[in-house]
Amino acid sequence: MRALSRAPAKVILVGEHFVVHGGRALAVSIDLWATAVAEPSPQLSLESEDPPGACRAGECAPHLRPLHAMLEDMVADHPRALGRYRLSSGIPQARGLGSSAATAVSLAAAALALAEGDAPRDDVYRYAMISERIIHGNPSGVDPAVSTYGGAILYSKSEGIRRLSVGPGELVVCCGASPRSTAAMVESVAEFRRSREGLFEALMESSSDLVARASEALESGDVASLAPIIRWHQGALRVLGVSSPELESYVAAMESSGMAAKLTGAGGGGCAIGLGDAARGDPRCPSAMIMRVHYPTGGVESWVQS
Ligand code: MEV
Repeated sequence: MRALSRAPAKVILVGEHFVVHGGRALAVSIDLWATAVAEPSPQLSLESEDPPGACRAGECAPHLRPLHAMLEDMVADHPRALGRYRLSSGIPQARGLGSSAATAVSLAAAALALAEGDAPRDDVYRYAMISERIIHGNPSGVDPAVSTYGGAILYSKSEGIRRLSVGPGELVVCCGASPRSTAAMVESVAEFRRSREGLFEALMESSSDLVARASEALESGDVASLAPIIRWHQGALRVLGVSSPELESYVAAMESSGMAAKLTGAGGGGCAIGLGDAARGDPRCPSAMIMRVHYPTGGVESWVQS
């Protein structure tokens, strides 16, 4: 028998970074997927296709250690999760699209399905957070929340997850070639907050109010009201110091193609998103990988094959 699972990537439309400090974020699941396959085995092992690596017989590739630690916790709680695990992913990694969360969520779902024949989403989320905390230090939890539950989500640490009713939409995503560290970007914003507390609080308060308005606009399909809120957040992220010349060039290219654009995720490199009149053709994001992605998708899914 074996268990299979898949979990979606995410895009934060507005509110990243502020959400780490108690603000709100609005995020949607997108149609890029991480997958996991699990088979019973007397030894715990983990293999990944991209980036390649393995954990077996006490040796573990560094990028897989957080996921392996999560599996060890899982096996301690659910002995039948002992097995051989294989990962693959179609999500650009370390670019702000929630690749690490989607991988952790799909792995947790495969392990629970192997052990129990079923993977309740609240349990999947709880286990995925073990790996996310090791990788990112102080994650808000929004990335694994979107990947686990899917759809469009209004999220804050204190208010939790509010699922929104959102019709299908398309985003243009421009991604740079170099990966960057979410933990480092989150720490740079924490440093900004320490040195300019009053300014940070004022930005966060405005952001949370605007994120709530953006959620209403998204639910009613009112792109015209969403666009200025997206632009406001790009300005705020620039002030926080997490934009970059590369991201600014993607934002400018998408804006001149008629979209409202901003960086997404931790910034410092990675991806920018464009929402709006994408029908006018692909923007010329210089030296970027350009994708069209669709939202919202369902959340994590798992199957058992005997
Ligand atoms: C990363 O996708 C989003 C951040 O807000 C970090 C987090 O929420 O954990 C930068």
